[in-house]
Amino acid sequence: MALLELDGVNTYYGRSHILFDVSLSVAKGEVVALLGRNGAGKSTTFRSVIGLTAPRSGEVRFKGEKVNGLRAFRICRRGIGFVPEDRRCFPDLTVRENLEVATRREKQAENPWTVDRVYALFPRLQERERNLGSQLSGGEQQMLTIARTLMTNPELLLLDEPSEGLAPLVVALLAEMILQIRKEGVTVLLAEQNLHFCAKVADRGYVIDKGSVKYEGTMKDLLADDEVKEKYLAV
Ligand SMILES: Nc1ncnc2c1ncn2[C@@H]1O[C@H](COP(=O)(O)OP(=O)(O)OP(=O)(O)O)[C@@H](O)[C@H]1O
Ligand SMILES: [Mg+2]
Repeated sequence: MALLELDGVNTYYGRSHILFDVSLSVAKGEVVALLGRNGAGKSTTFRSVIGLTAPRSGEVRFKGEKVNGLRAFRICRRGIGFVPEDRRCFPDLTVRENLEVATRREKQAENPWTVDRVYALFPRLQERERNLGSQLSGGEQQMLTIARTLMTNPELLLLDEPSEGLAPLVVALLAEMILQIRKEGVTVLLAEQNLHFCAKVADRGYVIDKGSVKYEGTMKDLLADDEVKEKYLAV
């Protein structure tokens, strides 16, 4: 059974119809990429999943249960962690404090994430643990927002353009970390424009353009498909 399924999702902002019958699925243990150019509908797809902008029709199922219609915090509590594009952390809290405030004690996860466990994954954050959020580089902030979201023990992690604006070396580091997160048993759906980054971390990919899914397949097949790459991705 798929961990996450979107089935014919249509989403609007007011009168603007943005997503057109979007269907996709993510199986437990997979890393799946949602690729598309600026304004293609990637963030809106994520907003539709977690209920920030509820779909007007279609269904979103998490662990086989329909979740669209529930409030965003209820959807996330079922086990979805969302890392938005703006990678905002608390600027006046230290790195450690940013992580500690995200701890969920009410949830009895099997192998809960702790500050030490996320430090093992992101050694750079441990080096910076006494620094304030406002003192971090873009790459460090991205790591911190991912680490903080892991502290909520998600089964599914939604990453919205994690590589955007980061230096190539940092992007390579981030790819290693996503592979490590997957090894730890977390399923990942990431929205990206960076095809090469996705090729390193994802098993399968969906290409979205003008709010509808234009392609789905393995990353290997997608990389070999020059027509799709030229038509829908800026490569
Ligand atoms: N709050 C809003 N109200 C109206 N239209 C919006 C709103 N947010 C986004 N849109 C429009 O919805 C479409 C999809 O936007 P979305 O943010 O989902 O794209 P995206 O793939 O995430 O793009 P990017 O790579 O720039 O983040 C765009 O045409 C955008 O202009
Ligand atoms: Mg976006």
